[in-house]
Amino acid sequence: MNLGALLSLPGLRGERPPMTTFAPQSDYADWIHSLYLQVIGWDGLILLIVIVATLLALLRYSTRSERVPPEPPVHRDHLWLEVTWTVGPALVLVAIAIPTIRTTFRSQPEVAPEGALVVEVLAHQWWWEVSYPELKVTTANEIHLPVGRPVRFALRSADVIHSFWVPALGGKRDVIPGHVNTITATPRTPGVYLGQCAEFCGLSHANMRLRVFVEPPATFAAWAAHQAAPAVVPGRPASVTTPVEAGAQLFATNLCVTCHALNGVATQRAGPDLTHFASRTTLAGGVLENTSANVAAWLRDPEAMKPGAQMPGLGLTDGEIHNLVAYLESLQ
Ligand code: CUA
Repeated sequence: MNLGALLSLPGLRGERPPMTTFAPQSDYADWIHSLYLQVIGWDGLILLIVIVATLLALLRYSTRSERVPPEPPVHRDHLWLEVTWTVGPALVLVAIAIPTIRTTFRSQPEVAPEGALVVEVLAHQWWWEVSYPELKVTTANEIHLPVGRPVRFALRSADVIHSFWVPALGGKRDVIPGHVNTITATPRTPGVYLGQCAEFCGLSHANMRLRVFVEPPATFAAWAAHQAAPAVVPGRPASVTTPVEAGAQLFATNLCVTCHALNGVATQRAGPDLTHFASRTTLAGGVLENTSANVAAWLRDPEAMKPGAQMPGLGLTDGEIHNLVAYLESLQ
Protein backbone atom coordinates (compact mmCIF):
# COMPACT_ATOMS: atom_id res chain seq x y z
CA MET A 1 0.00 0.00 0.00
CA ASN A 2 1.49 3.33 -0.97
CA LEU A 3 1.35 6.53 1.08
CA GLY A 4 -1.42 7.96 -1.07
CA ALA A 5 -3.72 4.99 -0.60
CA LEU A 6 -2.95 4.90 3.11
CA LEU A 7 -3.83 8.55 3.67
CA SER A 8 -6.77 8.83 1.28
CA LEU A 9 -10.32 9.23 2.48
CA PRO A 10 -12.72 6.37 1.86
CA GLY A 11 -14.66 6.55 -1.36
CA LEU A 12 -18.43 6.56 -1.60
CA ARG A 13 -19.31 3.32 0.20
CA GLY A 14 -16.10 1.60 -0.83
CA GLU A 15 -16.26 2.91 -4.36
CA ARG A 16 -13.05 3.61 -6.27
CA PRO A 17 -11.27 5.89 -6.89
CA PRO A 18 -10.91 7.18 -3.33
CA MET A 19 -10.85 10.87 -2.52
CA THR A 20 -7.14 11.58 -2.45
CA THR A 21 -4.96 14.62 -2.90
CA PHE A 22 -2.07 12.34 -3.83
CA ALA A 23 -3.27 11.79 -7.37
CA PRO A 24 -3.68 15.37 -8.67
CA GLN A 25 -5.67 15.74 -11.88
CA SER A 26 -5.54 19.51 -12.46
CA ASP A 27 -3.05 22.38 -12.30
CA TYR A 28 -4.56 23.58 -9.02
CA ALA A 29 -4.33 20.06 -7.56
CA ASP A 30 -0.66 19.97 -8.64
CA TRP A 31 0.06 23.14 -6.68
CA ILE A 32 -1.71 21.74 -3.60
CA HIS A 33 0.19 18.47 -3.95
CA SER A 34 3.48 20.33 -4.23
CA LEU A 35 2.61 22.34 -1.10
CA TYR A 36 1.93 19.12 0.78
CA LEU A 37 5.29 17.70 -0.20
CA GLN A 38 7.13 20.89 0.78
CA VAL A 39 5.43 21.04 4.19
CA ILE A 40 6.00 17.33 4.80
CA GLY A 41 9.67 17.86 3.87
CA TRP A 42 10.10 20.64 6.42
CA ASP A 43 8.16 18.65 9.04
CA GLY A 44 10.34 15.60 8.38
CA LEU A 45 13.52 17.64 8.77
CA ILE A 46 12.36 19.11 12.10
CA LEU A 47 11.22 15.69 13.31
CA LEU A 48 14.65 14.27 12.44
CA ILE A 49 16.47 17.04 14.34
CA VAL A 50 14.26 16.54 17.41
CA ILE A 51 14.70 12.75 17.36
CA VAL A 52 18.49 12.95 16.95
CA ALA A 53 18.81 15.55 19.73
CA THR A 54 16.63 13.40 22.03
CA LEU A 55 18.67 10.26 21.33
CA LEU A 56 21.97 12.10 21.92
CA ALA A 57 20.69 13.45 25.25
CA LEU A 58 19.45 9.99 26.27
CA LEU A 59 22.80 8.36 25.49
CA ARG A 60 24.90 11.09 27.06
CA TYR A 61 22.96 11.45 30.30
CA SER A 62 21.57 7.96 30.91
CA THR A 63 22.39 6.05 34.13
CA ARG A 64 22.77 2.60 32.63
CA SER A 65 26.41 2.22 33.81
CA GLU A 66 27.74 2.32 37.36
CA ARG A 67 29.30 5.70 36.81
CA VAL A 68 27.43 8.83 37.84
CA PRO A 69 26.25 10.65 34.68
CA PRO A 70 27.53 14.18 34.18
CA GLU A 71 25.17 17.01 35.05
CA PRO A 72 23.90 18.70 31.87
CA PRO A 73 25.35 22.20 31.49
CA VAL A 74 22.96 25.02 32.45
CA HIS A 75 22.75 27.95 30.05
CA ARG A 76 21.30 31.29 31.09
CA ASP A 77 20.79 34.11 28.59
CA HIS A 78 22.59 32.21 25.85
CA LEU A 79 22.23 34.73 23.02
CA TRP A 80 23.15 32.54 20.06
CA LEU A 81 21.11 29.59 21.24
CA GLU A 82 18.04 31.78 21.59
CA VAL A 83 18.61 33.55 18.27
CA THR A 84 19.02 30.19 16.55
CA TRP A 85 15.85 28.59 17.87
CA THR A 86 13.81 31.74 17.21
CA VAL A 87 15.10 32.65 13.77
CA GLY A 88 15.34 29.04 12.51
CA PRO A 89 11.63 28.17 12.95
CA ALA A 90 10.65 31.66 11.75
CA LEU A 91 12.54 31.05 8.49
CA VAL A 92 10.85 27.67 8.07
CA LEU A 93 7.44 29.32 8.55
CA VAL A 94 8.32 31.96 5.95
CA ALA A 95 9.47 29.23 3.54
CA ILE A 96 6.08 27.51 3.97
CA ALA A 97 4.05 30.75 3.87
CA ILE A 98 5.43 32.03 0.55
CA PRO A 99 4.28 29.13 -1.68
CA THR A 100 1.05 28.78 0.35
CA ILE A 101 0.03 32.41 -0.21
CA ARG A 102 1.09 32.22 -3.84
CA THR A 103 -1.08 29.12 -4.40
CA THR A 104 -4.01 30.72 -2.58
CA PHE A 105 -4.06 33.69 -4.95
CA ARG A 106 -3.07 31.74 -8.03
CA SER A 107 -6.07 29.42 -7.72
CA GLN A 108 -8.60 32.26 -7.47
CA PRO A 109 -7.54 35.05 -9.82
CA GLU A 110 -9.72 38.20 -9.85
CA VAL A 111 -10.59 37.68 -13.49
CA ALA A 112 -11.36 34.24 -14.92
CA PRO A 113 -8.91 33.15 -17.64
CA GLU A 114 -9.94 33.62 -21.26
CA GLY A 115 -12.39 30.96 -22.40
CA ALA A 116 -13.04 29.59 -18.91
CA LEU A 117 -16.24 27.63 -18.38
CA VAL A 118 -18.19 29.22 -15.53
CA VAL A 119 -19.85 26.74 -13.18
CA GLU A 120 -22.02 28.23 -10.47
CA VAL A 121 -22.25 26.05 -7.39
CA LEU A 122 -24.93 26.88 -4.84
CA ALA A 123 -24.54 24.90 -1.65
CA HIS A 124 -27.70 23.92 0.22
CA GLN A 125 -28.27 21.87 3.37
CA TRP A 126 -27.43 19.17 2.14
CA TRP A 127 -26.90 19.09 -1.59
CA TRP A 128 -25.21 21.01 -4.36
CA GLU A 129 -27.05 22.97 -7.03
CA VAL A 130 -24.91 23.22 -10.16
CA SER A 131 -25.61 25.75 -12.93
CA TYR A 132 -23.88 26.56 -16.21
CA PRO A 133 -25.06 30.09 -17.18
CA GLU A 134 -23.39 29.84 -20.59
CA LEU A 135 -25.18 26.57 -21.39
CA LYS A 136 -28.51 27.23 -19.63
CA VAL A 137 -28.14 23.98 -17.73
CA THR A 138 -28.98 23.29 -14.08
CA THR A 139 -28.33 20.02 -12.32
CA ALA A 140 -27.49 18.73 -8.85
CA ASN A 141 -24.62 17.00 -7.03
CA GLU A 142 -22.87 16.03 -10.27
CA ILE A 143 -20.61 18.31 -12.29
CA HIS A 144 -19.62 17.57 -15.88
CA LEU A 145 -16.49 19.31 -17.20
CA PRO A 146 -14.64 19.20 -20.52
CA VAL A 147 -11.03 18.06 -20.14
CA GLY A 148 -8.35 20.67 -20.80
CA ARG A 149 -10.62 23.74 -20.56
CA PRO A 150 -10.15 26.10 -17.60
CA VAL A 151 -13.14 26.07 -15.28
CA ARG A 152 -14.19 28.87 -12.99
CA PHE A 153 -16.23 27.67 -10.02
CA ALA A 154 -18.31 30.46 -8.49
CA LEU A 155 -19.26 29.20 -5.04
CA ARG A 156 -22.27 30.53 -3.13
CA SER A 157 -24.33 29.27 -0.22
CA ALA A 158 -28.11 29.27 0.19
CA ASP A 159 -27.94 28.86 3.95
CA VAL A 160 -24.88 28.16 6.15
CA ILE A 161 -21.12 27.83 5.59
CA HIS A 162 -20.15 24.80 3.52
CA SER A 163 -16.84 23.88 1.89
CA PHE A 164 -16.37 22.70 -1.69
CA TRP A 165 -13.74 19.98 -1.99
CA VAL A 166 -12.90 17.67 -4.86
CA PRO A 167 -9.40 16.50 -3.81
CA ALA A 168 -8.31 15.32 -7.28
CA LEU A 169 -9.06 18.78 -8.70
CA GLY A 170 -7.59 20.92 -5.93
CA GLY A 171 -7.87 22.24 -2.40
CA LYS A 172 -11.07 22.91 -0.52
CA ARG A 173 -12.68 26.33 -0.44
CA ASP A 174 -15.30 27.62 1.97
CA VAL A 175 -18.73 28.45 0.59
CA ILE A 176 -20.02 31.40 2.57
CA PRO A 177 -23.51 32.99 2.67
CA GLY A 178 -23.61 36.45 1.09
CA HIS A 179 -20.24 36.07 -0.59
CA VAL A 180 -18.91 34.52 -3.78
CA ASN A 181 -15.69 32.50 -3.51
CA THR A 182 -14.02 31.15 -6.62
CA ILE A 183 -11.73 28.36 -7.75
CA THR A 184 -10.01 28.38 -11.11
CA ALA A 185 -8.53 25.10 -12.34
CA THR A 186 -7.99 23.13 -15.53
CA PRO A 187 -8.84 19.42 -15.31
CA ARG A 188 -6.25 17.32 -17.08
CA THR A 189 -7.47 13.72 -17.18
CA PRO A 190 -10.90 12.31 -18.06
CA GLY A 191 -12.42 10.40 -15.17
CA VAL A 192 -14.87 10.51 -12.29
CA TYR A 193 -13.66 12.38 -9.22
CA LEU A 194 -15.41 12.33 -5.89
CA GLY A 195 -15.92 15.31 -3.64
CA GLN A 196 -17.45 16.08 -0.28
CA CYS A 197 -18.60 19.08 1.72
CA ALA A 198 -15.65 19.77 4.01
CA GLU A 199 -17.15 22.15 6.57
CA PHE A 200 -19.56 20.89 9.20
CA CYS A 201 -22.92 22.30 8.11
CA GLY A 202 -25.52 20.37 10.10
CA LEU A 203 -27.06 16.97 10.51
CA SER A 204 -26.35 15.55 7.04
CA HIS A 205 -22.99 17.25 6.44
CA ALA A 206 -21.44 13.83 5.81
CA ASN A 207 -24.15 13.12 3.23
CA MET A 208 -23.27 16.14 1.09
CA ARG A 209 -21.31 14.50 -1.71
CA LEU A 210 -20.20 15.46 -5.18
CA ARG A 211 -19.20 13.68 -8.35
CA VAL A 212 -17.20 15.40 -11.05
CA PHE A 213 -17.17 13.84 -14.53
CA VAL A 214 -14.25 15.10 -16.60
CA GLU A 215 -14.98 14.22 -20.22
CA PRO A 216 -13.60 14.68 -23.72
CA PRO A 217 -14.96 17.97 -25.18
CA ALA A 218 -17.33 16.20 -27.61
CA THR A 219 -18.85 14.07 -24.84
CA PHE A 220 -19.27 17.14 -22.67
CA ALA A 221 -20.91 19.10 -25.50
CA ALA A 222 -23.36 16.26 -26.11
CA TRP A 223 -24.18 16.07 -22.41
CA ALA A 224 -24.73 19.85 -22.22
CA ALA A 225 -26.97 19.92 -25.30
CA HIS A 226 -29.07 17.08 -23.91
CA GLN A 227 -29.35 18.70 -20.47
CA ALA A 228 -30.47 22.03 -21.94
CA ALA A 229 -33.48 20.45 -23.65
CA PRO A 230 -36.60 19.31 -21.78
CA ALA A 231 -36.71 15.60 -20.98
CA VAL A 232 -40.44 15.42 -21.39
CA VAL A 233 -43.07 17.02 -23.57
CA PRO A 234 -44.30 20.00 -21.55
CA GLY A 235 -47.74 19.93 -20.01
CA ARG A 236 -49.80 17.33 -18.28
CA PRO A 237 -50.25 14.06 -20.14
CA ALA A 238 -53.65 13.80 -21.79
CA SER A 239 -54.10 10.13 -21.09
CA VAL A 240 -53.04 8.14 -18.03
CA THR A 241 -52.39 4.59 -19.09
CA THR A 242 -48.82 3.77 -18.09
CA PRO A 243 -47.01 4.17 -14.77
CA VAL A 244 -44.87 6.89 -16.35
CA GLU A 245 -47.94 8.88 -17.36
CA ALA A 246 -49.59 8.33 -13.99
CA GLY A 247 -46.37 9.42 -12.29
CA ALA A 248 -46.18 12.52 -14.49
CA GLN A 249 -49.69 13.51 -13.51
CA LEU A 250 -48.94 12.84 -9.85
CA PHE A 251 -45.80 14.95 -10.06
CA ALA A 252 -47.60 17.87 -11.69
CA THR A 253 -50.52 17.84 -9.23
CA ASN A 254 -48.72 16.94 -5.99
CA LEU A 255 -46.41 18.88 -3.67
CA CYS A 256 -43.41 18.00 -5.90
CA VAL A 257 -43.88 21.12 -8.03
CA THR A 258 -43.82 23.44 -5.02
CA CYS A 259 -40.09 22.76 -4.51
CA HIS A 260 -38.61 21.27 -7.69
CA ALA A 261 -37.94 22.62 -11.16
CA LEU A 262 -38.53 20.40 -14.17
CA ASN A 263 -38.08 21.99 -17.56
CA GLY A 264 -41.52 22.48 -19.13
CA VAL A 265 -43.41 21.33 -16.02
CA ALA A 266 -42.30 23.17 -12.88
CA THR A 267 -40.02 26.07 -11.95
CA GLN A 268 -39.39 26.12 -8.19
CA ARG A 269 -35.78 25.98 -6.96
CA ALA A 270 -35.96 24.96 -3.29
CA GLY A 271 -34.97 21.40 -4.18
CA PRO A 272 -32.84 19.97 -6.98
CA ASP A 273 -33.81 20.53 -10.62
CA LEU A 274 -35.22 17.19 -11.79
CA THR A 275 -35.32 17.84 -15.55
CA HIS A 276 -32.82 15.10 -16.36
CA PHE A 277 -32.96 13.31 -13.04
CA ALA A 278 -32.46 9.85 -14.56
CA SER A 279 -29.25 10.95 -16.30
CA ARG A 280 -27.59 11.44 -12.91
CA THR A 281 -25.84 8.57 -11.15
CA THR A 282 -26.83 9.62 -7.64
CA LEU A 283 -29.58 11.26 -5.62
CA ALA A 284 -30.07 12.75 -2.16
CA GLY A 285 -26.95 14.90 -2.01
CA GLY A 286 -24.96 12.35 -3.98
CA VAL A 287 -25.14 9.82 -1.17
CA LEU A 288 -27.38 7.21 -2.82
CA GLU A 289 -26.89 5.43 -6.12
CA ASN A 290 -29.67 6.38 -8.51
CA THR A 291 -31.57 3.08 -8.59
CA SER A 292 -35.33 2.50 -8.63
CA ALA A 293 -35.14 0.93 -5.17
CA ASN A 294 -33.30 3.94 -3.73
CA VAL A 295 -35.65 6.45 -5.37
CA ALA A 296 -38.62 4.52 -3.96
CA ALA A 297 -37.05 4.42 -0.49
CA TRP A 298 -36.31 8.14 -0.72
CA LEU A 299 -39.89 9.01 -1.71
CA ARG A 300 -41.24 6.81 1.07
CA ASP A 301 -39.16 8.39 3.84
CA PRO A 302 -36.50 11.01 2.94
CA GLU A 303 -35.60 11.52 6.61
CA ALA A 304 -34.61 7.87 6.96
CA MET A 305 -32.29 8.08 3.95
CA LYS A 306 -30.70 11.43 4.82
CA PRO A 307 -31.20 12.70 8.38
CA GLY A 308 -32.49 16.26 8.45
CA ALA A 309 -33.51 16.14 4.79
CA GLN A 310 -35.53 19.21 3.81
CA MET A 311 -37.81 17.11 1.62
CA PRO A 312 -40.88 16.11 3.64
CA GLY A 313 -42.36 12.65 3.75
CA LEU A 314 -45.37 12.91 1.43
CA GLY A 315 -47.39 9.99 2.76
CA LEU A 316 -47.47 8.37 -0.67
CA THR A 317 -49.04 4.97 -1.26
CA ASP A 318 -46.97 2.13 -2.71
CA GLY A 319 -48.82 2.54 -6.01
CA GLU A 320 -48.08 6.27 -6.13
CA ILE A 321 -44.42 5.64 -5.33
CA HIS A 322 -44.27 3.01 -8.09
CA ASN A 323 -45.67 5.48 -10.62
CA LEU A 324 -43.47 8.39 -9.48
CA VAL A 325 -40.36 6.19 -9.68
CA ALA A 326 -41.33 5.14 -13.20
CA TYR A 327 -41.77 8.78 -14.17
CA LEU A 328 -38.55 10.03 -12.55
CA GLU A 329 -36.54 7.17 -14.06
CA SER A 330 -37.94 8.12 -17.49
CA LEU A 331 -36.36 11.59 -17.26
CA GLN A 332 -33.16 10.69 -19.12
CU1 CUA B 1 -22.30 21.28 3.61
CU2 CUA B 1 -20.97 20.28 5.30
